[in-house]
Amino acid sequence: MSLKLKNKVCIVTGATSGMGKAIAERFSEEGALLILSGRDIERGEKLAKKLKHSIFVAGDISKSASNKKLVEAALSQFGKIDILSLNAGTLGLGKVTKLPIASWQRTLDTNLSALFYLSKFAIPELLKQDGSTILINASIAAYKSFPNHPAYCASKAASLALMKQMAVEYAPGIRINAICPGPVDTPLLYDSAKAFGHPGTAVENAAKATLLKRLGTPDDIGKLALFLVSDDASWITGTAMTIDGGIMNV
Ligand SMILES: NC(=O)c1ccc[n+]([C@@H]2O[C@H](COP(=O)([O-])OP(=O)(O)OC[C@H]3O[C@@H](n4cnc5c(N)ncnc54)[C@H](OP(=O)(O)O)[C@@H]3O)[C@@H](O)[C@H]2O)c1
Repeated sequence: MSLKLKNKVCIVTGATSGMGKAIAERFSEEGALLILSGRDIERGEKLAKKLKHSIFVAGDISKSASNKKLVEAALSQFGKIDILSLNAGTLGLGKVTKLPIASWQRTLDTNLSALFYLSKFAIPELLKQDGSTILINASIAAYKSFPNHPAYCASKAASLALMKQMAVEYAPGIRINAICPGPVDTPLLYDSAKAFGHPGTAVENAAKATLLKRLGTPDDIGKLALFLVSDDASWITGTAMTIDGGIMNV
């Protein structure tokens, strides 16, 4: 059976945990060569040891220089870039009147500006490759408001606008899409629960509220990400795909 991402060079941000780790694992199984990004050196190095043909590059992606470093590392290690999986994200919780300006800024920088930075530095390289693609991990929070999540909701909605704008600007050379997960069983979901009226039951309630009566797993997302970056999705661009166990229908 042929591998779907054989020799494709992929940068995966937020690869040290949750969905990014699952995405990196799926991509690796399909023959990708990986640049793994995150701040946690221990977890990043451990994953890079486990996955064939992968390196970990530590850095804070809310800073433009860290994104430049990821592109430079991909080029010096593998000589090209085919795929960006822009997955890293943060919450920055608190209602507008309480949220410190620095926290608002950090969330916007991580969830939105980082997408711009890495795309800006990588797109000239992506344009040199056939079948290159960018996949943004947004959220159902792009469409739906959650208590104490103003920076998160705003940044995720804006990430979809950026996705669509870039999809138009760089077609037909680069396919650019997003995914909008519902509640997925990762550390970020448990942090997010702290912002709800009943934090102790918020995660359980979210699982019950899905039509399919469970949380998503990181690998549910890994499988969709693999589909969207592979040639199986070669006629899909400018789209945001919801993956939420049906919760948006409730
Ligand atoms: N879990 C959910 O229910 C859910 C639902 C919808 C969308 N999402 C989105 O899915 C994406 C992945 O989140 P997850 O749920 O898998 O959460 P997670 O397990 O907490 O992982 C978050 C990842 O983002 C990285 N990260 C955060 N800030 C960073 C920064 N400034 N610089 C570099 N890396 C940074 C973290 O790396 P380090 O810790 O190593 O820095 C970590 O690898 C996020 O964009 C999130 O908004 C999550």
